[in-house]
Amino acid sequence: MIRIPVHADGRGSLAVAELGGVLPFPARRAYWIYGVPAGASRGAHAHRKLSQFIVCVAGSARVTLSDGRTREGVVLRSPAEGLLVAPMMWEEITEMTADCVLMVLADAEYDEADYIRDHGQFLRDAGA
Ligand code: TYD
Repeated sequence: MIRIPVHADGRGSLAVAELGGVLPFPARRAYWIYGVPAGASRGAHAHRKLSQFIVCVAGSARVTLSDGRTREGVVLRSPAEGLLVAPMMWEEITEMTADCVLMVLADAEYDEADYIRDHGQFLRDAGA
């Protein structure tokens, strides 16, 4: 989890994720997930090379990460913090509230070949 600097004043708050400050990589792609129906889950895959930075800009969601040996979940509920997801981490997103918006910054363009969508394959590739 990375704390994001916030500039707050009487007009509200502005949070900044800048390369070298909060962001450990140059973002080459941004996407956001929203409008997820109650009980639906997202993710359930890993990336071979991609690094991602996930910010819950509204609502809340649980993100569970596993390296094949250890599995840990965190609830994202603040636009002032981001979760860094390294390559070769199995990622599951659950418990998204109706108002949840997850913004994701990624260090590469979309490439389906970078995904591992089969959990057994992930465990084999992770050497777990
Ligand atoms: P998917 O990886 O299944 O979403 P999630 O990780 O939230 O479970 O992606 C959903 C669809 O969107 C799938 O058809 C691939 C497409 N997609 C893109 O075209 N570009 C992107 O940058 C991303 C993340 C997904």
